[in-house]
Amino acid sequence: MSLLNRLTRPSREASIEHPAARRPDTARSASTPAADAKSDGLVEIRGVHKSFGDLEVLRGIDLTIAPGSVTVILGPSGSGKSTLLRAINHLEPVTQGLISVDGEVIGYRREGDLLHELHEREVLRQRTAIGMVFQSFNLFAHMTALANVAEAPRRALGVPRREAEEHAREQLGLVGLSEKASVYPRQLSGGQQQRVAIARALALRPKVLLFDEPTSALDPELVEEVLTVIRSLARAGTTLVIVTHEISFARDVADTVVFMDRGRIVEQGPPAEVLDRPSHERTQAFLQRVRTGTEPGSAAAGPGSPIDSAGPASPAVAPGSAGPAGPASPVGSAGPATAPGSAGPAGPPPDGRVLAAER
Ligand SMILES: Nc1ncnc2c1ncn2[C@@H]1O[C@H](COP(=O)(O)OP(=O)(O)O)[C@@H](O)[C@H]1O
Ligand SMILES: [Mg+2]
Repeated sequence: MSLLNRLTRPSREASIEHPAARRPDTARSASTPAADAKSDGLVEIRGVHKSFGDLEVLRGIDLTIAPGSVTVILGPSGSGKSTLLRAINHLEPVTQGLISVDGEVIGYRREGDLLHELHEREVLRQRTAIGMVFQSFNLFAHMTALANVAEAPRRALGVPRREAEEHAREQLGLVGLSEKASVYPRQLSGGQQQRVAIARALALRPKVLLFDEPTSALDPELVEEVLTVIRSLARAGTTLVIVTHEISFARDVADTVVFMDRGRIVEQGPPAEVLDRPSHERTQAFLQRVRTGTEPGSAAAGPGSPIDSAGPASPAVAPGSAGPAGPASPVGSAGPATAPGSAGPAGPPPDGRVLAAER
């Protein structure tokens, strides 16, 4: 375990011990072509901690996300979901631990047993393989839908304008917006804007696509069109990691559901287990709150609503940990710090699922 510990972020070009070099099973070498071919979009998160000042927001995250798989991350507001997504593409450097995509450590360059912090330019290059779709679309208001989608390939990859636009038309077609190429974001509904944002993320042909509550800013009647587009991407080869409160969508598309609370993974497994037979009391309580529309950010659904009609009745447990949702910022970062509530008692023992150790 001590090998995984990095006490402070190294300064640029500072050298630190590299755990993966001694644990080839957990982070394979990026220089093995055979492994690469099979592992496109493999995300490995090892011992990740993240603090903002005194507030430890990620408290030891270990997660392996298989190439081409769909992972849905659930959890109360403030549990660290956005921070984890942002750490995956190095928008948020971690304070301890490692994240790699196909064996390439994100944010660092490996040299033998040492890691060197990458220059911003190289981080941007890595980020082209890791797309992100935010709650608040973040389209350029002064650019047409087509230009929004063509922009990143032109800027980040130097693709010539004509080629980038041709490709952008294809991406807009994939999200059902061929007809809207020449309109501006203000002329589009929220659902259409989010579909443009998805097309924009796809334009860089990412190996991994991260969605941070992609439908929570939308009017209820626009949610489904965005979920339909995301559904169509599932199993098309790109690894998808989706933070959402849409439980029935999670049941539909997810290979793995991960439940996070207070900076830790509380449990993970197939949707049929985590959603219908959750082991942990906190998962049960969270699902109950989403079902009844009392979880901040969840759809206001009454009991027995279709949002999670297949789920079993869970014992109602006083939440304690659900802080108010922070205001959404333009880049999808979290609002002000909310102190997590007190920990409930540990749930029943695991039944074959991976349960994170709780202190
Ligand atoms: N840049 C930041 N500075 C300080 N605190 C932050 C920052 N980003 C997130 N936080 C805090 O970290 C915790 C987890 O936030 P977040 O990852 O956004 O949770 P979630 O997405 O699960 O709601 C919250 O308490 C939040 O206020
Ligand atoms: Mg969030």
